[in-house]
Order: sequence, then structure tokens, then C-alpha cells
Amino acid sequence: MCGIVGYTGKRNVIDVLMTGLVSLEYRGYDSAGIAINNDGEIKVYKAIGKLGNLKTLLEEKKSEITNVKSGIGHIRWATHGGATEFNAHPHTCTCGKLVVVHNGIIENFKELKEVLTKEGCVFRSQTDTETIAHLFAREYGKTHNLKEAVKNGLKELKGAYAICVMHKDEPDTIVATRKNAPLLIGLGEGENFIASDIPAFIEYTKKAIYLDDGDIAVVKADGLEFYNEKDEKITKKIEQLPWEPVALSKMGYKHFMLKEIHEQPDVIRNVLNGKLFDIDEPIVLNEVQIDNETLKKLNRIEIIACGTSLHAAMVGKYIIEDFTGIAVDVEPSSEYIYRKTVTNEKTLVIGVSQSGETADTITAIRQAKEKGAHVLIITNRPDSSMARYADSLIPVSAGIEISVAATKSYTAQLLSFYLLAIKMAEIKNSMPKEYLKTLKHELIQVPVKLEEILNNKEEIKKCARKFANYKNFIFIARGINLATALEGALKLKEISYINATGYAAGELKHGPIAMLDETMPVLSILIPGGITYDKILSNSEEAKARNARLIALTSSEDEHLYDIFENVIKIPPIPEILSPITANVPCQLLAYYISEFLGKDVDQPRNLAKSVTVE
Ligand code: F6R
Repeated sequence: MCGIVGYTGKRNVIDVLMTGLVSLEYRGYDSAGIAINNDGEIKVYKAIGKLGNLKTLLEEKKSEITNVKSGIGHIRWATHGGATEFNAHPHTCTCGKLVVVHNGIIENFKELKEVLTKEGCVFRSQTDTETIAHLFAREYGKTHNLKEAVKNGLKELKGAYAICVMHKDEPDTIVATRKNAPLLIGLGEGENFIASDIPAFIEYTKKAIYLDDGDIAVVKADGLEFYNEKDEKITKKIEQLPWEPVALSKMGYKHFMLKEIHEQPDVIRNVLNGKLFDIDEPIVLNEVQIDNETLKKLNRIEIIACGTSLHAAMVGKYIIEDFTGIAVDVEPSSEYIYRKTVTNEKTLVIGVSQSGETADTITAIRQAKEKGAHVLIITNRPDSSMARYADSLIPVSAGIEISVAATKSYTAQLLSFYLLAIKMAEIKNSMPKEYLKTLKHELIQVPVKLEEILNNKEEIKKCARKFANYKNFIFIARGINLATALEGALKLKEISYINATGYAAGELKHGPIAMLDETMPVLSILIPGGITYDKILSNSEEAKARNARLIALTSSEDEHLYDIFENVIKIPPIPEILSPITANVPCQLLAYYISEFLGKDVDQPRNLAKSVTVE
């Protein structure tokens, strides 16, 4: 969603802001802008659409930009008001002396706007953010101190926010604050950076300070001050960021998505590293505080997540119930928060999130915590807001994921669930040791199997070429791969805008079968050796009888499949219980190549954002 960058120091401020915004582009946006303090005057430049438009505008205005020491920048994903130049950030107060950028939502902006309008403020946009500019400007008028103005203004704001503010009369100062939205400061020599996410300044510094809710940072080129919610001056811990700038490059791939798909074998090795040492040894999850007593006490587990993470949660449910006998419910976070759930101190609540910043899941986790549940978070961002609520944590170690469509983070979430389920079974002694050993052995083999899939993409490309222009697509599966069917369909619709749906194969005859004819491709996930193969084959035959165009995704060697299916995409043999990890990869590639053939914006699909920070 929206992204913030701020800089004060000796470098070319506009270059730093623009590079920062480019590295946040992956979050999804529809307009962008920067504000600079140019020789004691605030200047604001905004453009709708991609950053290239803002760049062109800055080129045109080059002659009026003379001496800049500090600036703030923003990419906006429209919430309040359309994607227009007026609604783009930064926003100024009526006289233009104070300027803000903001991520999040101000819930009481309508009430504030009414009051401020009566006081004489002139509003130019439809955004909630503009209220902040007017509010802080009013407070600045009372104290002539930007930090004090922010402190006093915050008392009236309700909602979630990460904010950066500048005032014309404090040319080398940016004041930053946050509540329920991420913001961090990057530390340099004679320069400092502010951003809503690490990529915005990782090429300049790896030293950073994370702001906590209610903190106010006064950021100057040669100094930093921090104040907590009680206005006490505080010292904050300096963190060493674990990322290398190279993680943000496409490394020769045409798109980040393709690169990230190909990183999956190594991602799995990374996830297993330090957790699965040997098949004879128990799984090590250092930050999971669950012992036999906790497990005995549990009467149920609830897994909450959104989108792709929700599909990982479905696999999690399947294996945790299978391995431990504990009842598991899976629910979208956005539903969980609007009902009276039976959650208490005997419930383990697992929150799954790539970004760790998804607003619905954060709210759900907060509610679960208030009800006394033990909260376990599975996330790719151990530095995220969600991780801060965790009683137990599994960092999924997928590395930064730039493409909006989640790929490697999903695979890493799946792996994390397998490790967690095996660990629970070990603690509970609920599965035969030999079975768990076989599973661990198989998990260690998975990276090589993924490499095999990634080295044999011809059939997938052929399918993509053949079906790219179809308007609809159905994925069917049963059992543990129902999640794979749903995830395959989600990936395809996200990046190609094809109306793709996933169904439990047995449900086809209860309604969706009415849609089948020669214009409908149906992809069946068929894993032999398990309990679902024959039934899915029958369901596929039923689809064929209605002239649907059939594709098999299978590890079967059965030559008869070619009599039923037009295309057969092969994956290496694997026990059905582990097959969601391998079966998903061809679905990712199919979606990628279809999107590519259609000439869509693979990495930044329309209307989507990488981290969804509004409910
Ligand atoms: C799909 C996708 C989204 C996210 C969803 C939840 O490719 O990326 O469906 O999975 O928005 O996001 P996280 O996992 O960050 O909570």
C-alpha cells in the first residue's frame, strides 16, 4: 500500500527520495509526490500514475529547485478520494508552510475537518491526511516548535498512522511518529533517513531504529531525538538490518515474481536450516514457547490469515489435525474480527502473514490476545507489528518478496507449518516416530524436487500459451490440495485478471459443473498413492463429458492420463501429505506465463498492494 520516505543530509535530497520511492513501488500505488524545503520554502510536486510521471515533472521544474537540505516523499494507494493529483501526498496546511505524508487511516477525520474548516482552514483534497496538516499547523501556531505541534496534534487523532512532517521554519528537521503502522529511521553519518520499510534506504545504511507506537522522532542531519507517548526523552536500540541491497535486484530475471519463484529451493533450505538438523533429532523452533503442558491444556487451535496466507493456513489445519488430533479452525481475519469467537486461554491462535502488517490480521490477533489465547505468529517479517504481539514466533526466512503476488513466502509458510506440526506431534507423541522420520527425510528432498520442476517448464509454458486468452479457469482438487487449487486460482486471477476459481473436486457437481463447456479449462491436481486420486480422476472425467478443456497436474506415470487430459504437467513423486509444496509451483509458473503472454504488469497488478494496512 502507501509508502513513506524521508531524508535530511548532504546527498541530493530528490535523488534519495526518488530512489527510496522506487524501492517501495512493489507495495502498489496509484500516485506519488515529494515535498522539499528549498531555501526556506516548502515546495510540493505530485503526479498521478507511476513514478516516471513524477520524475518527468521534477525534470521540468529543475530550475526552481536550488538548495535542498531535507524532504519527504510518498506513494499513495487511494482509500479516501480517488487517485488524483489533489489527493496525492504530501499535503500542506492552508498557508503551505507545514507539510505531511501519512500511511494509515484517520478514523475521526470528518469530525476534525468540520472543526478545522470552521476555524478557517481551506481543504483542497478529499483525503483524511489533509486534516493532519491543518491540525498540526494550528498547533504549530501556538508553540512554534514542530515536535510540540506534533505531540499536541496527536492527542486529537484517532486511527492508524505513520507520519512525517516538515515546517518551512525548521528547514533541517523532519518529525516522524507512528501508531499501528510501521516506520523506521535509517542512521547515517551526517544524514538520516526515514521510511515505512527497509528497502527505501538499505542501499545507504544498514543501521536502523524502529519506532514504537506513540514515539515521536525529531530527525536532523546531525542528530536524532526520541520521545515516548508520555513525552519522556528516550534512547532507542539501534538494529543491524539483515538485508543486502542485492535482494532488491531482479538478478537477470524479467520480473521479480519469476526470480522469487526460482528462489524457492533455496528458501526451503533456509527454512530448514537450524530447525531440522537430522531425521533422528527433534525439530528445533527456538521462538516457539509451546510445551507438553500447553498442548495438553489446549482445546482447539484457530488459524487466522488473509489471501495466500489463508491458503497456507488451510494446509496447516490439515496437517496439525492429522498429526496431533487437536481440532483446528481456519478463518479469514476479516471475518474473525466481526463475530464472537470461542477463544480463551485454552486456545492457541496462529496468525499467518507474509508482511506482518495486514490490518485485519493484526486486529484479529489483538482480539485473541485480549481473550487470553497464546498467540503464535508465522511471518516473513520478524520486525513487523504482528511479530510484536507474538507469544511464539516462527520467522519464515523467505527473504524480501518484491512481487505483489506472494510465491516464495507461501512456500516458506507451508514449510513452517510442516515443521510446527511435526514438532507438536513430537511433543505430544501423537505419531509413530518412524513416520515422522520419513516425513523429515522427504522434506529434506523437497528443494531438489522443486529444482526439477523449475528446470522443466516447457509443458507449463505450452499450457499458458494455449489458455492465455480464455476468460475463465477452474482448478480442482480434494483434501490437502484444495488449498493448492484455491491458491492456484488466486494467483492466476491476481496477475492475469482471468476469472479463475478453485473448487473441491467433489463440489463441482453441486453447481459449478453448469459452467463447463469447451471454453472452460479445468486443471485437476492428481497425486497418486493417496486417498483422493481416483475420485479426482472421476470428477475430471465428468468435466470432460461436458467438453471442458482438461489439464492434469500430477506425479502419476499413468499413460492413460493422456487419453483424458489435453495437457499433463508433471511433478516429481512425493507423499500426498507433502504435495502442496511441490504442486503449487507449476500453478505459480502457469499464472506467471499467462500474465506475461497477456502483457500484464506481473509484479504490480492493478488495484493490489503488497501489504494491506487498511481493514
Ligand atoms: C496474494 C497476496 C495476498 C496476501 C494477503 C495477505 O498473492 O499476496 O493475498 O496473501 O494480502 O497478506 P499477508 O500475508 O502479508 O498478511
